[in-house]
Amino acid sequence: MPNTLLLYSTVYGQSRRICERIAAQLAEAGNSATVAALTDPAVDPAAFDAIVIGASIKHGKHQPTVLPFIRQHQAVLEAKPSALFSVSLIARKPKRNTPQTNPYLKALVAQSPWKPRLQAVFAGVLDYSRYGPFDKQMMRLVMWVNRGPTDPATRIEFTDWAAVDHFAAQVATLTDGR
Ligand SMILES: Cc1cc2nc3c(=O)[nH]c(=O)nc-3n(C[C@H](O)[C@H](O)[C@H](O)COP(=O)(O)O)c2cc1C
Repeated sequence: MPNTLLLYSTVYGQSRRICERIAAQLAEAGNSATVAALTDPAVDPAAFDAIVIGASIKHGKHQPTVLPFIRQHQAVLEAKPSALFSVSLIARKPKRNTPQTNPYLKALVAQSPWKPRLQAVFAGVLDYSRYGPFDKQMMRLVMWVNRGPTDPATRIEFTDWAAVDHFAAQVATLTDGR
């Protein structure tokens, strides 16, 4: 049975939840899946049949650990079926929710020596109650500029779980015949 590694880079947990959802879908399809933090030194990507990386955006950037990880594991990522997804709030916008139109995923892929064949973009969560004072004000300003919700009580999950399931089905095909 193929074993897929789902690595998340998260600040507030949504990228991990998306990896867990994909893992559950893979398990339903009869595959094994392992979910781990990208920064977990105990995990060896070379030991898996396929690798998926999911990373979120904070202040316009993926976490600084993402690109170095890709560079360090470039050979393994290129040798195995692999995929990449990015999680952000701009991805809630219909014109920014594909790998071709999302500026963050495009920037990461442009910088990355590994060019994953399978890519996806998912919208995340807006939850002002979880942010410190600075981040809360920053996000309210960003939302005001973008005509999004600015009420400090706002908690909205924009993630399209049907789109995640569709991506999971594509991930499942990566190990077909292996
Ligand atoms: C402090 C902060 C800064 C953020 N900056 C951006 C941003 O620049 N662009 C964007 O689209 N989303 C931004 N977001 C939204 C996050 O990407 C979104 O909340 C996502 O669900 C976070 O995923 P995670 O829980 O896996 O970290 C920001 C969120 C926070 C709290």
